[in-house]
Amino acid sequence: MNAESRRRLDQMPEWTALSKHREQLGEVHLRELFDRDPDRAGRYTLQVGDLHLDYSKHLVTDETLRLLGELAEATGVAGLREAMFRGEKINITERRSVLHTALRAPGSAVIKSDGENVVPRVQSVLTKMGTFADRVRSGGWKGHTGRRIKTVVNIGIGGSDLGPAMAYEALRAYTHRDMQFRFVSNVDGADLHEAVRDLDPAETLFVIASKTFTTIETVTNAVSARDWLLTGLDAGQDAVAKHFVALSTNAGKVAEFGINTDNMFEFWDWVGGRYSFDSAIGLSLMIAIGPEHFREMLAGFHLVDEHFRTAPPQANAPLLMGLLGIWYGNFFGAQSHAVLPYSHYLSRFTAYLQQLDMESNGKSVDRDGNPVNWETGPVVWGTPGTNGQHAYYQLLHQGTKMIPADFIGFAEPVADLQPGLVAQHDLLMANLFAQGQALAFGKTPEEVRAEGVAEELVPHKTFQGNHPTTTILAKELSPSVLGQLIALYEHKVFVQGAVWNIDSFDQWGVELGKVLAKRVEPALTEGADVPGLDASTAGLVAKYRELRGR
Ligand code: F6P
Repeated sequence: MNAESRRRLDQMPEWTALSKHREQLGEVHLRELFDRDPDRAGRYTLQVGDLHLDYSKHLVTDETLRLLGELAEATGVAGLREAMFRGEKINITERRSVLHTALRAPGSAVIKSDGENVVPRVQSVLTKMGTFADRVRSGGWKGHTGRRIKTVVNIGIGGSDLGPAMAYEALRAYTHRDMQFRFVSNVDGADLHEAVRDLDPAETLFVIASKTFTTIETVTNAVSARDWLLTGLDAGQDAVAKHFVALSTNAGKVAEFGINTDNMFEFWDWVGGRYSFDSAIGLSLMIAIGPEHFREMLAGFHLVDEHFRTAPPQANAPLLMGLLGIWYGNFFGAQSHAVLPYSHYLSRFTAYLQQLDMESNGKSVDRDGNPVNWETGPVVWGTPGTNGQHAYYQLLHQGTKMIPADFIGFAEPVADLQPGLVAQHDLLMANLFAQGQALAFGKTPEEVRAEGVAEELVPHKTFQGNHPTTTILAKELSPSVLGQLIALYEHKVFVQGAVWNIDSFDQWGVELGKVLAKRVEPALTEGADVPGLDASTAGLVAKYRELRGR
């Protein structure tokens, strides 16, 4: 279905049917849903590649799922999905194809953008990255003074940082342990300072990651890194070639910066920033884990792409996850969604998902530019689970808000842990399972009383339960499993954007702040008059200058 011919979402009969169904469901409790259907846990489970997904602890019945499926059909999710995979320009405001799926397609695939098969170009950049990564890893690539590279510093922000930084942490067990990898994103000079203060410039490689190569944070940090390097080496501009490579779509700007375009790894405007880490943007990660593991990760992504493209709606995991999010966000008033990995290695996973989800679906006009009358993307948040248990889980269990959550866990630890630490893994996972159980089923006042608790404490010790969660379980966090997990969330976000009829692939909302920052900066540095500065901001600028003694 094309977007123009679409009825407004809130006027669709499928939407109204879901509203009515929500009313009928009333205050149904998960305890009741499980009591009514002994097969529920088995029936509401999916296997996608290596991912086992349990969605039985959701406030849904077969009827809910049927109605959500009808909504997906009526809103043309499948059609938009086909259009994306075919390379149509579904990013309408930027008139671009959305082809991150081509980055992980097999070399034999034919995927066209503007009539050109993009797969050979993707493969040729991957090969070039592999050759370079191997040279750095083996010590074949030498710095300006002939020393081997020991530390790689990735400089980028947003999609040019979060993906590689997250995946580097996630796949630590697979990394080259004799090398160090650091990720600098913040324009706060402290970030670069802390990253390089103990490094030897002769053994440091900077990877400048920027799709546009105009992002102020990245370009500023790259210039400072170049100064640090040339000062440290007491060398001229020619030293840059051995210590700087660029990942970008903008060869002109890369050359202007002084990086030889032979040392540039390209990608294309049909790769969105937050969908880019399978592209050249993954170079730092590839150096860390090696080209073979990188390819395994791409195969994991591709596996879920194929699942999303071909699995029937009732067994389609990203479709289901997207629709469940819509169920809570649009029919229960849930404002946020927690992602709670029970893995230290996934410490940056939720931060990565924040950009993926919130930059994609934080929109308030539909694809035709009309204001939406329905809630769109949720606030995504979370940290590794056990730490969260001792921080904010109180609110999840006994607070007043509905916060659907995803638990992610693994049967086996991947790193070569000492036996005592391996044993800790059962404790970690026991926590995951216990939290899912407690959130869903809670503890009734009767159960509390039966423990002999004084009556006045019963309300305090009662857990209402009924908090919906998905549990995603895999054997271990391998490169392929990481790829599968990320693709699962990418397509979930896609499904939601398709139903809400918004453009999930632009990000105009980040522009205004960038423009204003450029305007305000001279006021801070030179005390320049900034026309149109509001009274509050003008006051803050004046206070800042006073505190800086200007
Ligand atoms: O935050 C806006 C944004 O454009 C993101 O979408 C992107 O990932 C990030 O900035 C970095 O952009 P670039 O890779 O062009 O430096």
